[in-house]
Amino acid sequence: MLDPEIQKKLIEEGRDFLKSFASTPYDDFESDQRLNLPQPPLVKAPMTERAFALPGNFENLWMKDDFIEIVTERKSSRVYTQLPISLLQLSFMLWATQGIKDIRGKSYATLRTVPSGGARHAFETYLLVQDVEGLPPGAYHYLPLGHELEFLQPVEDLPAAISDSLFGQSWAAKAGVIFYWSFVPYRAEWRYGIWAHRVVLIDAGHMAQNLYLACSALGLGACAVAAFDMEFCDHIFGLDGEEEFTLYTCPVGTISADDKKQEKSFYQFVEDEGL
Ligand SMILES: Cc1cc2nc3c(=O)[nH]c(=O)nc-3n(C[C@H](O)[C@H](O)[C@H](O)COP(=O)(O)O)c2cc1C
Repeated sequence: MLDPEIQKKLIEEGRDFLKSFASTPYDDFESDQRLNLPQPPLVKAPMTERAFALPGNFENLWMKDDFIEIVTERKSSRVYTQLPISLLQLSFMLWATQGIKDIRGKSYATLRTVPSGGARHAFETYLLVQDVEGLPPGAYHYLPLGHELEFLQPVEDLPAAISDSLFGQSWAAKAGVIFYWSFVPYRAEWRYGIWAHRVVLIDAGHMAQNLYLACSALGLGACAVAAFDMEFCDHIFGLDGEEEFTLYTCPVGTISADDKKQEKSFYQFVEDEGL
């Protein structure tokens, strides 16, 4: 264990970081936007020449339409039945989390299906696909401007890579697809400078919640995961770990009505320890 005084100091630093938006000793800080420095690109350029259009005929999707039910039934699912996810379902999940509806100004900001502080939308979406109809398994990158996906590369021993990427959370290796969201810091820092990092954590919550709600509507199971091996994930998708790094992940799989018992086993320790 670390020195208790050091632990206390680290916790205080964490709290101070979160408080930094409301009260700061750096009132004179000027963001690069204020300094009229050029704006970074709204999205990452394609990484390959292997982009393909995703289907957009969402009216053909079977989906619950009772919003009360969708919200009430949202939950984390870690038990999957390992049936294929359709390409249209995946397309909708990408749309619901990062889809671009409009551009503000000539190229000032993207307007998406999720909100974002200052409309900076500083995320990129990567996938490890295991079982999606019509897609070879492997690593992918979402191109939101054209609602396209690009195939990056196959991944050796995909179930092991998924489990390792999530610090050995092996239940995720049965998911049909795993979302990995990266953060491109300068996209947010250009406008918000030292405050960008607090805003982006709030943005990430909105995005992941839309995936949860999309899955609830589609009858699929999702589980947000923050316990991931950042360097490992960055390596899979070729991110440099400085100008872009993994921030959040979320496995998605097919679920059955009677998985509740197995799902409960993840929290057996609560009963065992009388919590
Ligand atoms: C930011 C965040 C990080 C999470 N990380 C993990 C994780 O690493 N592993 C996991 O099994 N569940 C993880 N979860 C899921 C939570 O455990 C789950 O939301 C919580 O137990 C409440 O259950 P519910 O989502 O079914 O309401 C995470 C959820 C959030 C929002």
